[in-house]
Order: sequence, then structure tokens, then C-alpha cells
Amino acid sequence: MVRGSLFAALGGVVITLIEDLVIRKVLDSRGNSTVEVDVHTTNGFGRFSAPSGASTGAHEAVAFPEGKVDLALERFESHVLPKVLGLDAIFQEEVDDVLRETDGTADFSFLGANVAVATSLATAKAASNALSLPLYRYLGGMTANRMPRPFGNLLGGGAHAPGGTVIQEFLSVAQGPTAADSVRANAKAHALVGEALRAKLPKTAIGRGDEGAWTAAIEDELALRLVADACSQIQDELGIPCSPALDMAASEFYRKGEYHYRDRTRSPEEQVAYVTELVDKYHLYAVEDPLEQDDFGGFAELTSLVGDRCLIIGDDLFVTNVDRIRVGVEAGSANGALIKPNQIGTLTDTWMAVDYAHGHGLQTVLSHRSGETTDATIAHLAVAFRCEGIKTGAVGGERIAKLNELIRIEEELT
Ligand code: PGA
Ligand code: ZN
Repeated sequence: MVRGSLFAALGGVVITLIEDLVIRKVLDSRGNSTVEVDVHTTNGFGRFSAPSGASTGAHEAVAFPEGKVDLALERFESHVLPKVLGLDAIFQEEVDDVLRETDGTADFSFLGANVAVATSLATAKAASNALSLPLYRYLGGMTANRMPRPFGNLLGGGAHAPGGTVIQEFLSVAQGPTAADSVRANAKAHALVGEALRAKLPKTAIGRGDEGAWTAAIEDELALRLVADACSQIQDELGIPCSPALDMAASEFYRKGEYHYRDRTRSPEEQVAYVTELVDKYHLYAVEDPLEQDDFGGFAELTSLVGDRCLIIGDDLFVTNVDRIRVGVEAGSANGALIKPNQIGTLTDTWMAVDYAHGHGLQTVLSHRSGETTDATIAHLAVAFRCEGIKTGAVGGERIAKLNELIRIEEELT
């Protein structure tokens, strides 16, 4: 109450008291139902709609109880609403503790992590709104002034476009003088890859996957070559350094001790050698999930080989879970962690993962999910948390919502 009254008292009224909460079912970009939560404080309002993954990690929190969105809404009404009403939104940890205790499971399988994350982030947004602060400033303080580097998904397959490449994402990482320059450069790289694909496959219809990346039934290495060429063209035409990167999402094609590519399989040792070769041949900026989600040792081997020149990022490996990041830090498994708030369920837990990663020399990349809403909050989180990167696609309405918010934040900061 002390901190609440210091910051939030206005004429004797605590303006950040939670007076009402509303949950509704909305659609994500795949057309699946998800949840959106509104938090009303005495004079503030916050809303967050939760995204969902397709290549979800086995160790992630559970998005919806028993996979049922309607059950998530019911449990919000009967269990969350009565306990969160009347709390002070400025005490984020208290709200998040109530969510954890109410859920009572390790993986949010009673409430659903999407209910938890929507409530948690809507609370933070309501508090920041009540205090008339942008979210990145409210959460990040006065020194949160650095823009994250956008990673743009250009081409892919995996669980986001079955029938496309085996590797899930081929990305560009433009390193422009401003984030806005990089956003535009990644979008242009996306267009260049589309043109190159149409030229290569003139008689084939070319589609786009869940995150707006191009997809076609081509070999992984051709895909990487097209993306690397687009990056070089960006460098030549715009003068902006631009590097290719991968999210292999390797757990998706790992079965019985082997990685299954279209034309062959690779043992874990061969996979490490293959990724090492790709890192050097294509000067990869980053490789996410190069090995399956429990292979901390294989990740460590790869990081020891290429970690001085490439980011090795754990997504399904770490699932934004501080306990798993700790295991990875102790084993030397990665030099980067992907951060997805709904993988863990609350803002406090997300912050703990980021803080631990940064405190142990890992870079962080705040990430969207493949099934997204138009919510732009992750742009604010990436700035508030001082993440080095943000992965939120290159084009597509729900992706552009975040990229355009980054542009607006950058304008405020300059
Ligand atoms: P997901 O994929 O949102 O489908 O889990 C994104 C990623 O693997 O980074
Ligand atoms: Zn991933």
C-alpha cells in the first residue's frame, strides 16, 4: 500500500485499484479462439489478448485448461475475478502471485496460461494507463531507451506451413541505424524473397505461412540461399547490414534419436556439424532451437563451436522458464533466450526469466507466437526489458501491429 499510495494517490483515492475485470473470447490470426482480458482501475484501463503457438514446446505452460477456451472463461469468472477484484494494479507481483496460487499447478493447467498472461499484462497496462505512462516506461523505468533489433520471418515451413521447408523459419536481421529502418529493410527483404521464389517456381502457386513468411515446397538450403541473397541485396541497395538467421524448431522433426529431413536423417552429432557448417557458410546472425528441446548437452556443444560468432537461442529449450534457463546457463547451452510471456503465464515470471538471462550473459529476443492477435504490447515489453531483439514477423496485419508500435515508441525516444 505504501508504494501504491506514493505513486498513485490522487486526492486520497488510489487510482490503480482494480474495480472491474472483463474476459471475452476473440479470434487469433489463425481464426482460433483465444482470450482477451480488460482491467479497469479507478482511472485506468488495460487490455491484453493472448496469442497461441503451433510449434509449442513440451515444457511450456498450458494455454487453455483441457484445451478448452470456454472452460478458461468459466474458470476466470469463478476463480480469478473474485480474487483479483480490489487488488492494486501497481503491485504486479501480488496480482501474479494470486494468479499462481489460484491456479495451483506448475504449468497453469487449471486456469490456462492464456488467461493468466492476459490478466497479468492487462493489469500492468491498466496501471501504466492510470499513471499516464507508456507501458515501456512504466515497466522499464527512465533508462529503458534502447530499441530492440527486429527479426523478420521471410520464408518457412515446419508447423507453420506444413509441406514447406522442414526448417521452420528463415529470417532476416537488418541492422539499420534505427529500428524503423530495420523494420522497413526486413519488409523489403520479404518482398525480394517473394520475387525470387516466383522467378524460381513460375508455374507454382506460392503461399504464406502462419506468420506471413513465404512458403513453398523447396529444400531448406535453397530457402536459406534465397534469404541470404535477399539480405545481401538489402545491404547493397539500402546500405544496411542484414544477416540471415534460422529458427529450426528442431523438436518438430526429431523422432527416435534422429533429425528427419526430407531426403535424409541426421544424428544429433551430425546435426551439430550441419548447423556449424550453415553458420559459417551463410554468416548466420542467430540459430534458434537447432536441437531438440531437452538436448542441453548438444546445445552446449554447438554453442562452444559457434557461440563466438552466432547467437544460439533457446526457445522450446527454455520456454521462458527461469529454472530451465538456469540449467542451460550451468551447461553453457546457449548465448540467447527467446522470451514469450504466454509460455510461462505471468509478467513477473517473464521478467524473472529475462533478468536471469541478462544477469548470466545471455541475450534475449522478445517473441510473438504464430497465432497472434493485433495486440502490440510485446513491442513495449521488448523496450522495457532491454531485449536485444524482437521477433515479430516481417509483414501481415497482426505482425505489423507490433512493428508499427515499435516505430511509434522509437519516435518518442528520439
Ligand atoms: P509458435 O512458434 O508460436 O508456433 O510456438 C514460434 C517459434 O517457434 O518461435
Ligand atoms: Zn522458435
